[in-house]
Amino acid sequence: MDELASLCKRRGFIFQTSEIYGGINGFWDYGPLGVELKRNIKETWWKTTVQARENVVGLDSSIIMHPRVWEASGHVGNFKDPMVDCRETKSRYRADQILVFKHKTDDSALMFAYPEDEEAPVKKAGKLAKIKADDYESVPLLDIPVAHYNRLVGPDTAEAGTLTEPRAFNLMFKTHVGPVEESANVAWLRPETAQGIFAQFGNINAISRLKIPFGIGQIGKAFRNEINPRNYTFRSREFEQMELEFFIKPGTDAEWHEYWVDARLKWYSIVGLPEGRMHRDVHSQEKLAHYASACTDILYDFPFGTQELEGIAARGNFDLTQHQTVSGKGLEYFDEETKERYLPHVIEPSAGVDRIALALLCEAYRIEWIPNDGGKVLTADPNVNRAPEGYEARTVLRFAPCIAPYKVAIFPLLKNKEELVTKARAVFERLNDRWNCFYDHAGAIGRRYRRQDEIGTPFGVTIDFDTLENDTVTVRDRDTMEQIRMPISELESYIAERVRF
Ligand code: GAP
Repeated sequence: MDELASLCKRRGFIFQTSEIYGGINGFWDYGPLGVELKRNIKETWWKTTVQARENVVGLDSSIIMHPRVWEASGHVGNFKDPMVDCRETKSRYRADQILVFKHKTDDSALMFAYPEDEEAPVKKAGKLAKIKADDYESVPLLDIPVAHYNRLVGPDTAEAGTLTEPRAFNLMFKTHVGPVEESANVAWLRPETAQGIFAQFGNINAISRLKIPFGIGQIGKAFRNEINPRNYTFRSREFEQMELEFFIKPGTDAEWHEYWVDARLKWYSIVGLPEGRMHRDVHSQEKLAHYASACTDILYDFPFGTQELEGIAARGNFDLTQHQTVSGKGLEYFDEETKERYLPHVIEPSAGVDRIALALLCEAYRIEWIPNDGGKVLTADPNVNRAPEGYEARTVLRFAPCIAPYKVAIFPLLKNKEELVTKARAVFERLNDRWNCFYDHAGAIGRRYRRQDEIGTPFGVTIDFDTLENDTVTVRDRDTMEQIRMPISELESYIAERVRF
């Protein structure tokens, strides 16, 4: 992850926000390449989820909405995480993500708290107390009675008794609308885009003449004051969501839920996340919210563990019922054919753009050893920092062409041959009208290829002396590094076929 983060900074994918002032935890900026990557993720989602479907329409609702939206949705009352503080180090932790390494039988022994995604702190425990690791077990912090916290050593301290008892902490960012900061003017930055859709369900239902089942999709920023932003951009405080509320007839929940889980998994394979590293986490009945009939999380094997990219929930008609009750406005759907009036149920696929961008970067990132004179490309051994004799190392981002920031790089073989440059500029301008392309005339052609490999450009087009003779170019494939020759007139259709999704 450190190597990838360094590449992301060096090549302009992701920067720490306001870095010149020391940054601010949980906020990130996407540089020239990162913004293209994210736009392509959103574009493939919007195209396949909204535009390609006659029964799905889009919405762009505001980030700040009437505060009663968040009372109705339950976020004011319930959108809370339990947190504990360390009085000694001033660190703050999410209590439900902390485990405790404790003696199985001895109730007077010291206990050791540690983050759930780390190894049990056997060494630290061994240093601070006489232990036999086999006598210890790990249990959730929330299962430890607060009265025993005096024997509990915090994750980042050697002292026992420094952790406070868990307190509920609302994750919504609060602000005030207008010049006076008083409780009557409180507003919230939305923690999800979904409620904007539910709050506009009545208007869209009235104007669109869509028939159930139909969906409303939205892409936009969401904000959560996460207690512990971590794993690079994975858990941020400002992020983007792509959410679909797909409204259905009550009783058809199970089949539509299954439909959307399958459809979303197909989408992940289109953008370049292979089936083998994707997982479904089907929530058990006990884990479901009281109003939900099903929820499946879609997970990806990140280098820091298998983690959620998207949740797909069958939420019944909980949200519409709440908004109808709290607003006093009818939100029922009228079925012209059956003459029935009802509050539709909803299936909600809810994905995070930033997490998908991170997964795509992790998946695409490779260091390879390329043989100098043909033969098999090797995956670099991470413990050896030099390519073996006869090989050259290359860093490559093997993005699916549809999400690559640049689709094509155009190279004149030599930069000081006017005919080559004129021809190359003409090819660049033609292709750049259609796709985001990169023109590069600086340095040896091999180095130009490597620069594009490192930012994941799938095709490199070289204009050489043969081009001037017969109007053909070479097209180099980033992954196989093979080059084929083709007429300029065929370039557009060749590339279009490969970047299609
Ligand atoms: N409307 C349902 C909803 O918001 P969620 O599971 O809380 O459900 C959906 O969020 C998706 O939003 C997650 O699967 C994740 O991809 C993304 N997400 C949530 N919190 C995030 C955070 N702090 N940083 C980055 N992405 C986040």
